[in-house]
Amino acid sequence: APLVNGIVDRFEAVGLRVAGPRRGAAQLEGSKVFAKDFMQRHRIPTARYRSYGDAGAAMEALRCGEYEFPVVVKADGLAAGKGVLICQDLRESLYAIRLVMEERKFGAAGDRVVIEEFLEGEEVSFMVFTDGNRVLSMVPSQDHKAIYDGDKGPNTGGMGAYSVDWILDQEIRHQVMKEIIEATIQGMASDGYPFAGILYAGLMLTSDGPKVLEFNVRFGDPETQVILTRLNSDLLEIFWSIAEGKLNPSEVRWLEDATVCIVMAASGYPGPYEKGMPIRGIEKAASKSHTEVFQAGTSIRENILVSNGGRVLGVTS
Ligand code: GLY
Repeated sequence: APLVNGIVDRFEAVGLRVAGPRRGAAQLEGSKVFAKDFMQRHRIPTARYRSYGDAGAAMEALRCGEYEFPVVVKADGLAAGKGVLICQDLRESLYAIRLVMEERKFGAAGDRVVIEEFLEGEEVSFMVFTDGNRVLSMVPSQDHKAIYDGDKGPNTGGMGAYSVDWILDQEIRHQVMKEIIEATIQGMASDGYPFAGILYAGLMLTSDGPKVLEFNVRFGDPETQVILTRLNSDLLEIFWSIAEGKLNPSEVRWLEDATVCIVMAASGYPGPYEKGMPIRGIEKAASKSHTEVFQAGTSIRENILVSNGGRVLGVTS
């Protein structure tokens, strides 16, 4: 949200160093319609789609059989990772449109929707550092989105992640860098939105090659927990060189280890959940070698650590 609202522009305006995309470039994540139109214009592989600013028109298209099910309905704007609904049939898709555009479940994010083809395959989160010219890839990771075991239940922001090099073999990684990442950085520059910072491509490895599910303009959560624990360089130096426009490949080195993060969430998430539940045992868990417990939805009340969000802890090893 700060990037989409222009924090980088504000820092630059007063001469402060900052590593991230400006407001215009952050639209890649801030608007699904912007991202899809951009990808179509620059022939970056992604699911077929149409966008609608009117619930009636979207419902009419669904009823008229313009889509094959399942379809994916996406709220246009930021929705804390919850604005993507996979719909198995007409009834579910009409309900999704009603929820997003009429009941305004995600507020102004539902002014417009994208309806797109459902892609099948293995999902991979692929992130890069870029200063707008040079692009350096991070190690790949895989995020686990469904709330329950066995890929069941509604999508969340991510219930866990792991990172290991073989998630993306060299050949596909090369293809992703060329056809997706570099095409995006070049396309954004030529559209007048030079992109610096972290670009995250959520990919589906389909039988027809890798396709973009979504872009984020930041680190992923919980992917960051498994990626940065493999970073064997100083993150501040990387950010500094992005801010200076001088990203240097020798600054970004990775460990070969495999890492995993399990998210502990509040009961009820991604629906309504309780806050303020006391948390104990973090020190004990974190005292194990190669283990860190990252805190997300936590807070301190009267000197006691308590839960304060849906996704509370990221136990990473
Ligand atoms: N884990 C997905 C995200 O950060 O958007």
